[in-house]
Amino acid sequence: MQRFLLVVALAACGGAPKSGATSATADAIARGRAVVDNKGCQVCHTVDGSQRVGPTWKGLWNSDVELADGKRLHVDAAYLRRSIITPLADIVVGFPPTMPSFEGQLKDSELDDVIAYIQSLR
Ligand code: HEC
Repeated sequence: MQRFLLVVALAACGGAPKSGATSATADAIARGRAVVDNKGCQVCHTVDGSQRVGPTWKGLWNSDVELADGKRLHVDAAYLRRSIITPLADIVVGFPPTMPSFEGQLKDSELDDVIAYIQSLR
């Protein structure tokens, strides 16, 4: 019952709060995984800690990433969103600037779901 109320409360305010994997609903995570499969992100990204063309997403949420220009950024929803829409804005150190932009290819709600999915990858 309590869990039901929590889900309703989250749905009512338009989605999970922007921090913490526990607040992301299982549904959003499942939808996010489907979007990732559909868009082919896993050609370049893994979720198990191994590297491909791009960095793994395992443990990415809430970490600090180092960029090629020496800056360090905290990984939150805004960072993930920017990384997907304008990948060349922040280049992760040690990786090529080759990720294509997904601007216009993901609905806002799909972006939120992908972010929920990445959040869940501890
Ligand atoms: C052609 C290969 C390729 C594809 C396809 C691709 N990416 Fe990337 N991605 C990269 C590379 C290379 C980087 C590292 C360079 C950079 O920061 O842009 C990266 C970086 C990222 C980062 C930042 C990672 C970090 O450690 O800070 C996120 C988040 C991300 N990609 C999400 C996605 C999502 C979501 C998709 C699918 C919708 C996707 N990528 C598809 C190559 C790709």
